Amino acid sequence: MDKENNLFFSNQFALKYDELVGKQNWYGAEILLGMIFNYLKPKDKILDIGIGTGLSASGFHTLGLEVYGLDYSNEMLEVCRQKDISVDLKQFDLNDTPLPYPSNFFDHISANAILYFIDRLDNLFEEISRIIKKNGFTLLKKIEFIAENFQMEGNSVSFILYVTKANQ
Ligand SMILES: C[S@@+](CC[C@H](N)C(=O)[O-])C[C@H]1O[C@@H](n2cnc3c(N)ncnc32)[C@H](O)[C@@H]1O
Repeated sequence: MDKENNLFFSNQFALKYDELVGKQNWYGAEILLGMIFNYLKPKDKILDIGIGTGLSASGFHTLGLEVYGLDYSNEMLEVCRQKDISVDLKQFDLNDTPLPYPSNFFDHISANAILYFIDRLDNLFEEISRIIKKNGFTLLKKIEFIAENFQMEGNSVSFILYVTKANQ
């Protein structure tokens, strides 16, 4: 799917997104939270890149973290805003670096089911290393799943990226 179609899709299906994902039996949010649970502390600042409706981010909020989110779809962000799980949400195209945060700002950065939409991952990863606090490590995981409702053909790949500082 190209960028315009994807943004159109995000805007059009924002209100039904959680329901559609539920019907897909997608457990990406739970898998991500399970992998990083031991590293999270209340009041830690976490940026969710491509936060969407906040499906992955809601677990961070439940654990008491300060959730920041970026997404280029205003409609997805509006659904997320209604959930009241974040301290800051910004509309932002992730192909347009630099990211709108100071250096060494976040304890954690999460990007779930979003990286395959980005044209220049090298630019994004450079920015991630700038805004994450020092001594971070990176976990990159991919999960196969069928995404018929997302108008993709056959098996597609869901990338999960999680970055945190190593010395806590
Ligand atoms: C499959 S959803 C995943 C949402 C969320 N991370 C989650 O785990 O539920 C992908 C999200 O990425 C956003 N997105 C796609 N390309 C983007 C871009 N270039 N810049 C910002 N957001 C983008 C879409 O609007 C959508 O909200």
